[in-house]
Amino acid sequence: MRPALNPFLPPQVEQILSEFRLKKEQLKEVMKRMMREMDRGLRVETHQESSVKMLPTYVYSTPEGSEVGDFLALDLGGTNFRVMLVKVGEDEERVWKVETKHQMYSIPEDAMTGTAEMLFDYIAECISDFLDRHHIKHRKLPLGFTFSFPVRHEDIDKGILLNWTKGFKASGAEGNNVVGLLRDAIKRRGDFEMDVVAMVNDTVATMISCYYEDRSCEVGMIVGTGCNACYMEEMRTVELVEGEEGRMCVNTEWGAFGANGELEEFRLEYDRVVDETSLNPGQQLYEKLISGKYMGELVRLVLLKLVNEELLFNGEASDLLKTRGSFETRYVSQIESNTVCVSDCLLCETVKLRSVSLGSLVICNIQMMQVISSENVMDFILTLMLISLHSFQDRFHKVVRELTPHCDITFIQSEEGSGRGAALISAVACKMAACILTQ
Ligand code: BGC
Repeated sequence: MRPALNPFLPPQVEQILSEFRLKKEQLKEVMKRMMREMDRGLRVETHQESSVKMLPTYVYSTPEGSEVGDFLALDLGGTNFRVMLVKVGEDEERVWKVETKHQMYSIPEDAMTGTAEMLFDYIAECISDFLDRHHIKHRKLPLGFTFSFPVRHEDIDKGILLNWTKGFKASGAEGNNVVGLLRDAIKRRGDFEMDVVAMVNDTVATMISCYYEDRSCEVGMIVGTGCNACYMEEMRTVELVEGEEGRMCVNTEWGAFGANGELEEFRLEYDRVVDETSLNPGQQLYEKLISGKYMGELVRLVLLKLVNEELLFNGEASDLLKTRGSFETRYVSQIESNTVCVSDCLLCETVKLRSVSLGSLVICNIQMMQVISSENVMDFILTLMLISLHSFQDRFHKVVRELTPHCDITFIQSEEGSGRGAALISAVACKMAACILTQ
């Protein structure tokens, strides 16, 4: 990694970049504040006010046995919607076999920001198209829904959308049961039937998908368009759900951290502009410092400042640089990987490094939570499933090792887990509910 201080940069540029470099003490302070919110999120009396919601998922530990057969999996969370046909089975060694066929549909802007009915009608239309393509419209398949937004679950197949994130805004969905919205849309079409058995967050689906390959995996983390993590927590600590025995997966929704002002002295002028011009000002403040949805815009704003102060490009801003939202996050990675690194490249690297450092804190805190609940302070080993947009893994590891040296983590990267996990959970849910598969 390049040195933090670059003697060849003009001091004004160096000054701007240095604002993004968080010191170890600052990281520890953020970590401490987040830990407090995570703890408050788990407790009945403070849950409502906490900024990190720690939502129960009704996905329990060590699912034993499941139905085998075909499952349909849906994946909604970014600008694309995916439908998958997943075959779940076991061989003599009781190893899971999963085969998939899938189809990607891009979600039109008006479905993302129109009404919930429009969005879910579009989803139902995509499912119908998929069933036609694979000649399976006559089959009433069990369906698992990966829905990558904050949901307050009442059961594995029932949950209220708390708020949209990542540029979604369809009205009439917040405060409503998402599975109900899906079932209604399928009913409105009337050309196929589905048995919706489970709805899970993408972090949960990812963790479960990994779990079937490595039984020690108990954290799922996503750093992509949005960011979030889930982990297995002791039931007695999850106060919002009755029961003391066993463990349940908790969806942290750490992207919302900061809503109680915990990040005020760490947010820079650019972060504030990104937030104010977003579709959800005041919400998902931590996510806006870290995730791919906002990083391009963040870099654009800093570049614009450098140009306006005549520190870059001879003071001439291109149209791309002047247009809000035009600077995509993939450019950040492209510029950062330049072999000859000048101001713009150093800036991309610095912004990304801040994102990695802040994202890593979550893992440190999850480890701490688990260490505390399991009363096992020494040699804690965590296997973690990570989906990340831009090769965060090594840097993540480095920061986590620095901040929590007593913990040992294994990272497993996955680009595929999200939908598969939903199907696997559905297979388990089917077994539990003894649902009849009409296959
Ligand atoms: C959502 C989470 C999701 C994450 C990653 C966030 O914006 O609130 O539910 O897991 O994005 O997709």
